[in-house]
Amino acid sequence: MSEENMNDQEQKKAMMKAKLKKNLSKIKHTIMVMSGKGGVGKSTVAANLAMSLAKEGYSVGVLDGDIHGPNIPKVLGVENQKLMADENGAISPVKAFDTIKVISVGYLIENQDTPVIWRGPLKHSVMAQFLRDVNWGELDFLVVDLPPGTGDEPLSVAQLIKDVDGIEAPTAIVVTTPQDVALLDSRKSVEFAKALQLEMLGIVENMSGFVCPHCAKAIDLFKVGGGKKAAEELNVPFLGAIPIDPQVVEDTDQGKPFVNRDGNADVNIAFKRIVENVIKKF
Ligand SMILES: Nc1ncnc2c1ncn2[C@@H]1O[C@H](COP(=O)(O)OP(=O)(O)OP(=O)(O)O)[C@@H](O)[C@H]1O
Ligand SMILES: [Mg+2]
Repeated sequence: MSEENMNDQEQKKAMMKAKLKKNLSKIKHTIMVMSGKGGVGKSTVAANLAMSLAKEGYSVGVLDGDIHGPNIPKVLGVENQKLMADENGAISPVKAFDTIKVISVGYLIENQDTPVIWRGPLKHSVMAQFLRDVNWGELDFLVVDLPPGTGDEPLSVAQLIKDVDGIEAPTAIVVTTPQDVALLDSRKSVEFAKALQLEMLGIVENMSGFVCPHCAKAIDLFKVGGGKKAAEELNVPFLGAIPIDPQVVEDTDQGKPFVNRDGNADVNIAFKRIVENVIKKF
């Protein structure tokens, strides 16, 4: 490569970095929602946390970091939207419930059934674009919903933010279900966060017990208490436990966060406590 080309490339890199810093400097806190295992309720927790924070008056964005299974548009009831860019190329996020700014790979693919086949470097550049080129504006919280595991997506998001001087490192919430196999995997997420020096907000135990709607008897489908035990063992905070409630599935399928439901269902009370515990950390 000629010297001139190299200089050009370096200049471009520096410009992109400056742009990323400018964008991130307007975002106070990033919360990465992670898990070792799939299907434990990360997207549900991410969406309901974002909604709860928005209801508390915070300005909130959600970055759907699940490239292969982007669920956030569905969970927040903003599917089938198109992304717009302004004259400077900044992408405008989609608005959910008039308050939450949302971005997802789901908005970039034509057909929902088409699988996204991207390798690590391409995923990294999409995450970089989501953080750098999306017009998030001033945010109190950017909630990042991630795929299970400790792969490219969480690593990219964590590194992109951590590499920028003067920006608060991302924080992490690990969602787990109470049974042993799930816990074994969630330990890896905790270790991942430690290795990357992310601030661990704590563990959420989801699908923790079930109250039979017919006889009101508590049934511990996946056991209970494992998340709390893991938190103690790993020396990280425990944020709270969410019971199983079929209404959660119903609400999620309809694109309505369950925290918007009136009433004092156990899941609502449990989630409120978790949100309070999260807010206390900042
Ligand atoms: N507390 C709960 N009670 C009942 N159903 C729940 C609860 N939490 C989550 N679910 C349901 O479990 C399913 C999986 O949840 P979700 O999509 O949030 O998991 P995930 O960890 O994001 O999955 P993935 O690893 O595929 O991204 C959804 O159908 C959701 O509605
Ligand atoms: Mg998910």
